[in-house]
Amino acid sequence: MALQRPKGTQDHLPDGSPKLSRDVQASAFAFVQDTARRVLERAGAQFIGTPLFEEAELVRRGVGGSTDIVRKEMFTVYYFGDHGGYVLRPEGTASIVRAYLQNGLKQLPAPLKLWTHGPMFRAENVQKGRLRQFHQVDYEVLGSTDPLVDAEAIWLMWAVVRELGLTGVRVKLGSIGDPEDREAYNSYLRELFTPHEGRLSDDSKDRLTRNPMRILDSKSAEDQALIRELNVNPMLDFLGEAARAHFAAVQAHLTAWGVPFDLDPSIVRGLDYYRRTAWELHHTQVGAKSALGGGGRYDGLAAQLGGPEVPGIGWAFGIERLLLALEAEGVALPGQAGPLLFLAALDEENVGLAARLALQGRAVARVEFAYRALKPGNAFKEADRRRARYAAVIGSNEAARGVLNVKNLASGEQREVPLEALKTFLEQAELEQA
Ligand code: HAM
Repeated sequence: MALQRPKGTQDHLPDGSPKLSRDVQASAFAFVQDTARRVLERAGAQFIGTPLFEEAELVRRGVGGSTDIVRKEMFTVYYFGDHGGYVLRPEGTASIVRAYLQNGLKQLPAPLKLWTHGPMFRAENVQKGRLRQFHQVDYEVLGSTDPLVDAEAIWLMWAVVRELGLTGVRVKLGSIGDPEDREAYNSYLRELFTPHEGRLSDDSKDRLTRNPMRILDSKSAEDQALIRELNVNPMLDFLGEAARAHFAAVQAHLTAWGVPFDLDPSIVRGLDYYRRTAWELHHTQVGAKSALGGGGRYDGLAAQLGGPEVPGIGWAFGIERLLLALEAEGVALPGQAGPLLFLAALDEENVGLAARLALQGRAVARVEFAYRALKPGNAFKEADRRRARYAAVIGSNEAARGVLNVKNLASGEQREVPLEALKTFLEQAELEQA
């Protein structure tokens, strides 16, 4: 058997590829990305790019030592040299905050809205919707603690979902409070779970010392059964006054703007940098891995990375999860459009001429050409297969008279276009299309 791609990765394939395995149609992927870009740029977000690999220390300190991501899922890259190792980035936020600090972006007008997209890497157990290389659209806002910024961030996720045409999405909203609130909650959890330590999974025994809140996020069925049995009070009950007021303001904005949300008192999130507002978007038809995206506020992250205090908030969508949701809802996605014009010569002498006309036409529109002479019927069939809007043929007769024979493939109408008028013809056809 020919070599296969690594487990937990996908190929992105052109339209019309045979469906052999769980692959991604590149044009559907681009549609999701372009939709997100449109929504985010309208809100004033600017693109930021960061490397695919980072110092392991950045991820350890940013994402947090008690998370599954750092403890079990890092793709570490070693090379010969005196170095602690790099990791393939498991997410975008730590990198963006690092880039903000390293490049003095504090000087730009605040709040600074940034967005990015690209592959992320986590060595997870692979299942539907859970990959080892997946892709995120990521939005981050730096330099404001205003709850209006939180609400706007959630509204933007909602706007992306709506522009994609999804309807079965729910926003689950919670707050994980300020660090002192979380400390109080962790003490409560430690007291609650310690007498039952023997029943916890090995991972959760470890969480009990490091960060008991993580137990609530455990994937083990036994842990989840114990959590239900103990009737654990939610984090929301432990919010201090400031976090409580902030959370109320976020909810008031969302309600005023008509963004529906469900309060989720048990939201934990899988990363350590969060404080205050935290949320996830879930889809009703995507199954166990139903989180399409999630986010939250991370006011302490910049300082955690060795910089000054810079408040921040953001979110990320998983593009593959959005594609699963679109598929589940049967939303028809536009494939890549075909060429405006497909040009073919009717005899060998004119193949070069047809190619030259096509190259000139590309100043205006997408124009393709046949690499060998075709009979008119075959030329039109070829154009159809490529989903062209127009087909044009040129033989010795047309060349001598300086014209192209152009056919509108939808209406079947055929007419002659003088060679010197080709550019105008293409411009008009482009306008009609728009
Ligand atoms: P996250 O919840 O870890 O948050 O990931 C965000 C989204 O990425 C998830 O909701 C899911 O759709 C997708 N995702 C995560 N892991 C996988 C996987 N193994 N396979 C497929 N999709 C996956 C973050 O990454 C934060 N950086 C979000 C954020 C930005 N918070 C503040 N700013």
